[in-house]
Amino acid sequence: GAPGWDTTADVVVVGSGIAGLTAALRLRDHVGKVLVVTKDVLSAGSTQWAQGGIAAALGPGDTPAQHERDTLVAGAGACDLQAVRTLVTEGPEAVRELIALGANFDHSSDGVLSLTREGGHHRDRIAHAGGDATGAEIQRALVAAIKEAPDIEVIEHALAVDLMLDENGGVSGLTLHVMGEGQRDGVGAVRCRAVVLASGGLGQVFSQTTNPSVSTGDGMALALRAGAVLRDLEFVQFHPTVMYLGPQSTGQQPLISEAVRGEGAFLVDFAGNRFMQGQHELADLAPRDVVAKAITRRMQEEGKQHMWLDARHLGAAFWEKRFPTILATARLHGVDPVTELIPVAPACHYASGGVATDLWGRSTVPGLYATGEVACSGVHGANRLASNSLLEGLVFSRRIAQVLPAELSAYAEPAPDSRRPGVVSATVRTAMQATMTERVGVLRNADGLALAAKDLEDLAQTEGEEGTAAWETTNLVSISAALTAAATLREETRGSHWREDFPARDDEHFAGHVDVVLVDGAP
Ligand code: SIN
Repeated sequence: GAPGWDTTADVVVVGSGIAGLTAALRLRDHVGKVLVVTKDVLSAGSTQWAQGGIAAALGPGDTPAQHERDTLVAGAGACDLQAVRTLVTEGPEAVRELIALGANFDHSSDGVLSLTREGGHHRDRIAHAGGDATGAEIQRALVAAIKEAPDIEVIEHALAVDLMLDENGGVSGLTLHVMGEGQRDGVGAVRCRAVVLASGGLGQVFSQTTNPSVSTGDGMALALRAGAVLRDLEFVQFHPTVMYLGPQSTGQQPLISEAVRGEGAFLVDFAGNRFMQGQHELADLAPRDVVAKAITRRMQEEGKQHMWLDARHLGAAFWEKRFPTILATARLHGVDPVTELIPVAPACHYASGGVATDLWGRSTVPGLYATGEVACSGVHGANRLASNSLLEGLVFSRRIAQVLPAELSAYAEPAPDSRRPGVVSATVRTAMQATMTERVGVLRNADGLALAAKDLEDLAQTEGEEGTAAWETTNLVSISAALTAAATLREETRGSHWREDFPARDDEHFAGHVDVVLVDGAP
């Protein structure tokens, strides 16, 4: 319906994780009014769940060039070199600034920053906080900084519904659905001159994910509807070691950080064999796609729903100091990692693709910028290297703040909106997740992808009543369709995209990125 309330801002930042809050904090001195809108409370996004840490060449003997090499290898030939170079070169400075802002990273007793290793890294370069609570500490520090910046306005419980565009297709505003009280309740409109999307990923597309419930692809769906190019959507990363809680357990599942393997834990099958040995020179610390594939294969061979992680030899004292969060969570679910094997299986973890951006976070829609997981800056390629995601948000939000103030246009009148109104029924979410998990999950083939596309088309025809749940489901269904289209087009196996019917990486016909746009409402 028509907006029930309206307001103005110069820049609206959508999302409040490391990417959004960094952008807001760095823009505030250079533009007029900055408004942060977030779907839940400020700290509800994915950032607070990050365990392992943030990667940067900060240790003795390490260099951005080595970090670049590891990132490119993990990305399986699909990274953009300049984007990776930007990430690794500006990374150390960006992390030092985060420390200066007040994020308390772990240090040794003599004051040296502690660095660990994760899959695909040839050096110790993962900075961490509170042992395995890195994201929570970063989020705490950023929220504290935002609260000390009263000039930044924040609207919580606000779902970004759609961009308003001017007659040239540039950003002129944003419609929101606020679950508020008083003046700002229901659908409203923010007139603005630019929007920075920092709304995170799409984990809830699948039945099991490490992502929180808010990760419903809203930013990607909004950008798609506004005419933006989405890129590399088929490269969905499945984290190899997510605690397996049984077939009925859906939604967010407990992550067992790769840092646990970084500290010496290893995978075993039901017969106790260490099946990662001999598969890759880095064995249990091979890049994530390699480990996820090996686990999935072994699960299929043995007809099992999960494999096992053995971390008993780390001992109680080490577990308590280094991984207090994971230890407590595993025990909560009835497994004591000090004395027992942890059941683990791959689950959806990270969208390597997203809204296509250039090196300065600009999307293909004038006035629309994107940063963090919602964006595809080109740094992750076909498979993101562990702990590069917090870094991406940090580095590219700083870069957006460097160019955006000079690129702000005048306030423009919104053009009449001809996009299809209406939302799908919130009740189709479970069916959508089941289809995506079965047919567009770890292992894909043409028949399954075609069936998924058909299912999604049918689900998109249902009609629901406007509200947060229906908008989220609408976004999930449209992003699922775009992802399925991209996965259908990429007829090869590369990184986290695994096609049964095209089992090899095809460098000869490699066409670079798969871009998706909407044509007549379809991807
Ligand atoms: C982990 O701690 O294993 C996750 C790190 C990441 O996803 O980068």
